[in-house]
Amino acid sequence: MDATAINESRQARSAASITLENVGKTYPDGTVAVGDFGLEVGAGELAVLIGPSGCGKSTILRMINRLIEPTGGRILIDGQNILERDPVELRRHIGYVIQNVGLFPHQNIRTNVGTVPRLLGWDRARIATRSDELLELVGLDPARFAKRYPHELSGGQRQRVGVARALAADPLVLLMDEPFSAVDPIARGRLQEEFLRLQATVRKTIVLVTHDIDEAVRLGDRIAVLAEGGKLLQYAPPADLLSRPVSDTVADFVGADRGIRRLAVTPARAAARPLNGDQPTADRPTVDVSGTLYDALAVMLAAGAPEVLVLEDGRPVGVIPRTAVFGVPDPV
Ligand SMILES: Nc1ncnc2c1ncn2[C@@H]1O[C@H](COP(=O)(O)OP(=O)(O)OP(=O)(O)O)[C@@H](O)[C@H]1O
Ligand SMILES: [Mg+2]
Repeated sequence: MDATAINESRQARSAASITLENVGKTYPDGTVAVGDFGLEVGAGELAVLIGPSGCGKSTILRMINRLIEPTGGRILIDGQNILERDPVELRRHIGYVIQNVGLFPHQNIRTNVGTVPRLLGWDRARIATRSDELLELVGLDPARFAKRYPHELSGGQRQRVGVARALAADPLVLLMDEPFSAVDPIARGRLQEEFLRLQATVRKTIVLVTHDIDEAVRLGDRIAVLAEGGKLLQYAPPADLLSRPVSDTVADFVGADRGIRRLAVTPARAAARPLNGDQPTADRPTVDVSGTLYDALAVMLAAGAPEVLVLEDGRPVGVIPRTAVFGVPDPV
């Protein structure tokens, strides 16, 4: 897509749909990294690619910003085939975050974040303002961090700078290749939480690669489970994937404990049964309607109660009995 087309579509909105049609990558030595891959990601959606090592996840991601040239198929961003556009120009409109971030070591944080705006020819003042705005957004105080160098930050802080840099020029799409895998599990959990909050604000179209099914379930609007050669086994929202894996291979992949994971992605509202005149009392535990079946179970276990009332705006709207934990309500 050329600069004009991108700018025009950006004026309409700040995220774009991504469509991959029959996309393939065969290397000259005959290796079929990706056979025939198709995927549809709606504007503002976060799609996760997950699958065993070497199955083609990074290849697919890097074909979307043309760091790798596909040997077949079409890739559309907002309906326009990006394979017909200038790859260098294209990459300025696609944020890319990788493991270990790849910050420029001899540039301070503000300069790192301003990389793409500088390439786009923004003036200095605008770049500085934008960099600081992004640092704020990812939870790094510019007064403390803007002048530091990458080696003066923790791994998690560097990761956040990587996200800020990828968002700097307000890209249409964001590609993330195992962005949180280099940090320890506790920092990772925090970064994921922050990232979800950030995504609620910026609503980018994101394709994220991970090895970690918990991360996939936590972050994804939809999850694509891949096998060797970029074969798409299932593409579904987390609750669907966990409750209805389409094959034994997918079931194995999402894990024997998928039932527990499913609780955390099943909204309390979907699990609630109708009330018959129930009122909250001190000995009846409650869960807010915005919670999940996992929250409901936690409350039941803590209170030793057989059921939990579901509240909306403080009023009971349903009840979740213990048996609901073992049922498979329809994902919403
Ligand atoms: N230049 C190349 N020539 C031949 N084969 C290659 C080349 N580059 C990558 N491959 C192969 O393409 C396949 C897909 O690689 P890719 O990096 O996409 O896997 P991945 O799913 O991201 O794996 P991981 O989870 O380990 O990061 C692998 O089998 C890899 O060996
Ligand atoms: Mg990879």
